Amino acid sequence: MVTAVRLSERIDGVNGEFTNRVKAWLLDRLPELSNDVLQWLVKEHYQFSSTNVELLGLARDATAQLADQGVTIELQRNIGEESGHAVMYRRAMGEIGTDVDDHVEFPPTTAFFERLRNLSTQNASCSLGTFYATETAAIFEHQVFYEISRELCERQGLAYQGSRIKKFHDIHLDEGVEQGHKDGLAAFVDVAVSEPGADGLDSAEVERGAYAAIEAMVTWWDALLGEVERNWRGPQAR
Ligand SMILES: [Fe+2]
Ligand SMILES: [Fe+2]
Repeated sequence: MVTAVRLSERIDGVNGEFTNRVKAWLLDRLPELSNDVLQWLVKEHYQFSSTNVELLGLARDATAQLADQGVTIELQRNIGEESGHAVMYRRAMGEIGTDVDDHVEFPPTTAFFERLRNLSTQNASCSLGTFYATETAAIFEHQVFYEISRELCERQGLAYQGSRIKKFHDIHLDEGVEQGHKDGLAAFVDVAVSEPGADGLDSAEVERGAYAAIEAMVTWWDALLGEVERNWRGPQAR
């Protein structure tokens, strides 16, 4: 008997290949990377955190055309949770010595946001697939940045336990914020069909949006890792 694989699981498989690779690469090298490099990664991730609410808003608007308002309501719920998070992230990093606003534009990050903006506005199904993929990858991002902030605290002799930055990552991981965003959207990904009516979810478009978003994340992360590799132990050590 053939068991049909749900669309969300198929997307997770593709997503997992890249997130596992990036996570292993970074965590293997973590002790050797300079403070500058680690702080730089956090600043780029903060850019995503602070832009995410705008991108979610575009996707919410694109999904409002669907007969079932469930996706729109779920994205709005997500926006409500995320809108305070960038502020918390900035403050928490400031408390451990990283000013996320002291930032020079990294063009691959800007290009990544442009791709997501484009994918968020094509059609409702594509928007849903895009955000299903990015919300899934958000779990891996918080796992990676949990370790990076722990490392930054340790090197400076600051307590990670009880810090605002640990709490920030904990609410996204242990307290289930990102898993909730992923599961909330998975329910809709898995009811998309191949020949929907004009205002239904199209599985081919959901899948295309998800894979295009994963491709955009791969390109972005490869650019980040390339930059990390170039600055391995920081400019002072070269
Ligand atoms: Fe968040
Ligand atoms: Fe999220």
